[in-house]
Amino acid sequence: MEELRWYKIFDSLAEAEKKLPLNQSVRVVIKNISICLSHSHQGFFAVQDECSHLKESLSRGRINNWNEVICPWHAYRFDLATGEETSGNGCASLQTFPVALEEDGFFIGLYA
Ligand code: FES
Repeated sequence: MEELRWYKIFDSLAEAEKKLPLNQSVRVVIKNISICLSHSHQGFFAVQDECSHLKESLSRGRINNWNEVICPWHAYRFDLATGEETSGNGCASLQTFPVALEEDGFFIGLYA
C-alpha cells in the first residue's frame, strides 16, 4: 500500500495567498499528476485538474460562492471539498487531495 507523501507548494500561507489570490486556481503538477489547487472563501482545496466530463483543465475555470469550481468548457460544477459533480450531469467525482498548512510551508498530500 502506498504511503501518503507531502509535497511543499509554498513556503508559507502568506506566499500561498500572494501567489494564489482568492477565487483563483492554479495547475500544479506533482509526480506527473495534474492538480487544480484553488483558493476559495472556505480555504485552499486540491482536486484533479482534468474535468471528468471531457478532460478540460479545471484550473482554468472560475470559483463560485458555493465552493465549487466551474469547468470553463461546458460549465459543469464540482464541489471543491468533496470532488462531487454538483450540476446534475452524472459525471464522476473528481479525485481530491489533502492540503496542509504547517510552520514550514503549505503542502499537498499524494499517494505517489
Ligand atoms: S469538459 Fe468540463 S464540463 Fe465538459
